[in-house]
Amino acid sequence: MKYSAPKGTRDILPGESKAWQSVEALFYDVCRRYAYHEIRIPTFESTELFERGVGGSTDIVQKEMYSFEDKAGRPLTLRPEGTAGVVRAYLENGLASEATPLRLFYNVTAFRYEKMQKGRYREFHQLGCECIGSAAPEADVELISLLSVFFESIGLRDFHLEINSIGCPECRPAYREALRDYYQPHLQDLCDDCRRRFDQNPLRLLDCKEPSCRKLADQAPVQLERLCPDCREHWQEVLSLLDALGISYEINPRLVRGLDYYTRTVFEFVSDQVGTQGTICAGGRYDGLVEEMGGKETPAVGFAMGVERLLLELRGRGIPFPEEEPPLLFIAAFPSQKEEAMRLSQLGRAAGYIIDTDICGRSMKAQLKYANRRQTRYLLVLGEEEIKSGCAKIKRMSDAHEISIQLIELKEVLDTLQKEEKL
Ligand code: HAM
Repeated sequence: MKYSAPKGTRDILPGESKAWQSVEALFYDVCRRYAYHEIRIPTFESTELFERGVGGSTDIVQKEMYSFEDKAGRPLTLRPEGTAGVVRAYLENGLASEATPLRLFYNVTAFRYEKMQKGRYREFHQLGCECIGSAAPEADVELISLLSVFFESIGLRDFHLEINSIGCPECRPAYREALRDYYQPHLQDLCDDCRRRFDQNPLRLLDCKEPSCRKLADQAPVQLERLCPDCREHWQEVLSLLDALGISYEINPRLVRGLDYYTRTVFEFVSDQVGTQGTICAGGRYDGLVEEMGGKETPAVGFAMGVERLLLELRGRGIPFPEEEPPLLFIAAFPSQKEEAMRLSQLGRAAGYIIDTDICGRSMKAQLKYANRRQTRYLLVLGEEEIKSGCAKIKRMSDAHEISIQLIELKEVLDTLQKEEKL
């Protein structure tokens, strides 16, 4: 019987994982510089958490959750995103009593039962940040600034930032009504999904991709013109801070998000490359979520970035990644010297070097062939003579140049070889 990975999941193979590690390391480093701290949350949570947090009217809750009952009959769901779990952890662990704002980042897998496409998977990875406890526009802009620094350091430039304000519970109900009034006479021209959204969440009509719905959305009233004075002031301050930091943006008054918790600022980083899933990263403010989940009224803002999409984008742009490093040294040995080979390998590895040696009981000829395939940079052959005399030869594989060494000085030799390799 042959098994294959479930539809919508992917293996990240050794040839690719170095790229993942370098993206993650860069992200962690930028988060560190912005004083963000890592939070790790469970892969599954109670189903109700997402129904409440992400919102009952969203596609995620209605169609895409991986929900199940455990053996005790508890309704659970594999997380479709990170924000709801982070807010749950914030409340459950009393983080609200720590100095605010709380700046948190995470690296999570997420699960959504979506139609498979390039850049759209059923299990995917998100790198995200949540800043909990500040209502000020500085918090929104600090996050966007963190993302700009991250994209800059990774070498990604061909994308743009789209930004909008979708108001607050003060000004949104009137806007919702204005949208319903606008769409009411055109209900028969909408797709099935949008007819459902019309009742539940008319804002989502604005980001439907169906051509007939799109045409209507182009003429629809926009929230930006109907913001209450507080939301308008917040919005203007966000824009002027972005200007002050030299971060360019496009105002997209039709940008709404597929999750219910957003208030005021929403944004997306969209690729300029055609043929990819455009949105690499998305987020916004969610001032009502902490309260909705049982906490005190606490403003918050955050984003999440799809790692698969980011990597596709980088590859599409030909941005190079660090490659897997080959071993510095391969220690080949005859069976009677295998203990010494393992001892010397351990010594080199403990000193921080990538050392390979045979662990398959191969013949000397097969070991040398294997060392070549692994693109080892140096080779040391251990025979009886070498053990007896304590001297051996190290061969540089690129040009067969040989040097004689004392085995007792292997660590110092490795230090020198590594330095030379780096030159
Ligand atoms: P989201 O827009 O649903 O927002 O997802 C954020 C990012 O995750 C997307 O921009 C995309 O790059 C990636 N993504 C989403 N679905 C898939 C998929 N099926 N396959 C591959 N990548 C995908 C959120 O999840 C919010 N929690 C963001 C946030 C954090 N807002 C505030 N804080």
